[in-house]
Amino acid sequence: MSVVAIVPAAGRGERLGLGLPKALALVGGLTMVARAVDGLVEGGVDHVVVAAPPGDEDTVRAALAHRAVQVVPGADDRVGSVDAALAALPAGTEVVLVHDAARCLCPPAVVRAVVDAVRAGHRAVVPATAVADTLKRTDPAGVVTATVDRRGLAAVQTPQGFDVATLRAAHERARAHRAAGEPVTATDDAGLAEAMGVSVATVPGDPRAFKVTTPLDLAMAEALVTAGPA
Ligand code: CTP
Ligand code: MG
Repeated sequence: MSVVAIVPAAGRGERLGLGLPKALALVGGLTMVARAVDGLVEGGVDHVVVAAPPGDEDTVRAALAHRAVQVVPGADDRVGSVDAALAALPAGTEVVLVHDAARCLCPPAVVRAVVDAVRAGHRAVVPATAVADTLKRTDPAGVVTATVDRRGLAAVQTPQGFDVATLRAAHERARAHRAAGEPVTATDDAGLAEAMGVSVATVPGDPRAFKVTTPLDLAMAEALVTAGPA
């Protein structure tokens, strides 16, 4: 039970607007959460803990039928959902991945690369891709104040990989900050690790690991699945 993946799947999918948790939305006839879990297992993950929307645990379990996964209730925000799954990690976990259910088409090769990099000694690892758009800074009125030099910038995806002690420590620190009323501004797990001074390594990401957020993204995912393996 050495490589375990946490799948935060407890979001409500407001921007997708289907009136159901996003993880339960279908892509090519299969739920996003099932696709995400299958990609992780194909990428060499030994065990998966899914954080489901509280109250929808049984529906998520049913969507994952025949897959050996553990389902726990998630929380109001993503950090809380990851925390809930962290508390349920099996004994003997060495490498832990955190992977959004919404990145359901992430190729297994990316999963493998992240695991390998953690196994090679990196405490925190993220898949990164180049930024394609030109980036500008704007003022509150929307007027451009600067063009950001794109060199040296990366867009990061999931799965993000950690040695288990690092991820636990990063989340404990974030919990303590929150309890003290301080804001936690990190938007990903690697950000929590960075905040405690951990160096975060990158491996090449993949455009297919994009996050399904809007109806356009869902149409794109559907089209990719229909087109078959690329
Ligand atoms: N997530 C979670 N628990 C939450 C919020 C989000 O586990 N309380 C998960 C989502 O299920 C998703 C991932 O974190 O797999 C990324 O979140 P996002 O894309 O924002 O998904 P939703 O929160 O479902 O979407 P929206 O913000 O549009 O409601
Ligand atoms: Mg959200």
